[in-house]
Amino acid sequence: MISLFSIASLMKKKSPLVVGNWKMNKTSLEAKEFVSQLVQKGIPEGCRALLAVPFTAIEGAVACASSQISIGAQNMHDQVGGAFTGEISAEMLRVSGAKFVLLGHSERRAYFCETNEWVGKKVEQALLSGLMPILCIGESLEERETGAFQAVLETQLSQCLAFVPEGQIDSICIAYEPIWAIGTGKTATVAMAQEALAYVRQWVSHHFSKECGRKVELLYGGSVTRDNVSSLIAQPDIDGVLVGGASLDLEHWMDILKSVMGELL
Ligand code: PGA
Repeated sequence: MISLFSIASLMKKKSPLVVGNWKMNKTSLEAKEFVSQLVQKGIPEGCRALLAVPFTAIEGAVACASSQISIGAQNMHDQVGGAFTGEISAEMLRVSGAKFVLLGHSERRAYFCETNEWVGKKVEQALLSGLMPILCIGESLEERETGAFQAVLETQLSQCLAFVPEGQIDSICIAYEPIWAIGTGKTATVAMAQEALAYVRQWVSHHFSKECGRKVELLYGGSVTRDNVSSLIAQPDIDGVLVGGASLDLEHWMDILKSVMGELL
């Protein structure tokens, strides 16, 4: 019998995208070990697995990865080079083997004062350098409770995508991560996640084109686990997930990869 899960998945244009965000965890040695074991266990057929690792772990992880695994970074500067002590450029990441970069994560915005405008410049630079930006957006609990969440998303989208030419919108992923759901164990309900991402898709269709809205890949992030991932991925506007804590543990991560492919149902 064909389940609702497989019908929703079959209707999607691409296979699911599962992105791990390791944050400030794992040394280069630990990253190599993790990725080697992942390759040994085998990524489920058709699944696209991405890992955003610390800068120091990129080269080692790339060296151990298979063609089904892409390694990326968690941040970068918008400038190509110069006197920016402690920063890293898109080109440095690309040459290290990174294929993508998370931009505008709420922890960057909260602890490192990143504004929408700055994130917009980073998105532009990532595209110019051939890295796929994964733009993170999302509202705070207060913004959700006061009903301002769509207005917040609208501001974040319009400022962070301000310099993206129409032809390149399908080289970008957009991750909706409500701040109140990150690392808290509180997942947005499936309906909330779907509603927010349907809004994002509609926004892209309206500001770029219907075709762009159809093509742009949208992720949900915030306390995703092996237990809730299959109901999230079954939603029509959720093309993938962005996973923090649960991506650090190999068994848990493998179960997430299998679940998005319907293998653990
Ligand atoms: P979490 O983190 O899965 O631990 O909530 C998600 C993220 O910060 O991207």
